[in-house]
Amino acid sequence: MSKPKVFVTRVIADKGLDLVKDFCELDLWQEELPPSRAELLKRVRGVEGILSLLTDKIDGEVMDAAGAQLKVISNHAVGFDNIDVQAATVRKIPVGNTPDVLTDATADFAFALMMAAGRRIVEGDRYVREGKWKTWGPMLLLGTEMKGATLGLVGFGRIGKAVARRALGFDMRVIYYDPSESKSDPNVKATSVDFETLLKESDFISLHIPLTPDTYHLIDSEALSKMKPTAVLVNTARGPVVDLEALYEALKFKRIFGAGLDVTEPEPLPVDHPVLTLDNIVIVPHIASASKVTRDKMAWMAAQNLIAGLKGEHLPNCVNPEVYAK
Ligand code: DGY
Repeated sequence: MSKPKVFVTRVIADKGLDLVKDFCELDLWQEELPPSRAELLKRVRGVEGILSLLTDKIDGEVMDAAGAQLKVISNHAVGFDNIDVQAATVRKIPVGNTPDVLTDATADFAFALMMAAGRRIVEGDRYVREGKWKTWGPMLLLGTEMKGATLGLVGFGRIGKAVARRALGFDMRVIYYDPSESKSDPNVKATSVDFETLLKESDFISLHIPLTPDTYHLIDSEALSKMKPTAVLVNTARGPVVDLEALYEALKFKRIFGAGLDVTEPEPLPVDHPVLTLDNIVIVPHIASASKVTRDKMAWMAAQNLIAGLKGEHLPNCVNPEVYAK
């Protein structure tokens, strides 16, 4: 029996790729950079499944280029703002994602960024490498301590709660604002507040909300102006949740203390972007989930979703279950 044809838009961990190879006729994009739009439209032609990454824009045009036989789109990410889910739903195509497996890796990383920016770790490393370290200094590279600080979480879903649990170990006070719904959890000691209160009271603010039209540039110049001058902002969610130009101004004029970004707008961030001239920001290339264990699990889950869709079964993790309504 012939195997279903699928396009996988980048090399993923073997834990997932091996499953796909066994079950499917695989067309694998092997380059380091994502396929161009033209290449994507060409390669999806005639496939029954697409395994995409957050770098691939999968919209109605891509779905139509694939053809009416397209049965499933499986995104190798928990976020799915790169996919036009409505366009998929209209075409009755289930869309899969990889929730939860990256919760701990991302929560750890949010903490790493809070500490890196708050305690000036990267700046300190540069200081040493540049030969500036002459002596121990009582006022050298002073930063912000975690103990007793207030952590404000924007978004209190799985990752927000995992960050909250870690914060309690650091003796922090945790407050949160979740725009979607009330998500209190008796097992996590944290207080729900409104957005304004969160901005005003937090020493550290960590973002854990999806990118939607409502959260686009949620952190803009107005929001930044309400933060404490000692505050540290961390973003491991999606770049466009923060207005980077406004953040640049706030950091340059020391209106807030520092920032740690795993995600930016745009990605990749051009190397001549003005924000890279500042010392009080740490920026890394969207690697919060990049532990070996987590990426193995993400690849495995993405493959499971893909294969379930090809078999006509419900995806184990489906973001548009309404496609199954009769
Ligand atoms: C996701 O899965 O959405 C993450 O951003 C990848 O690190």
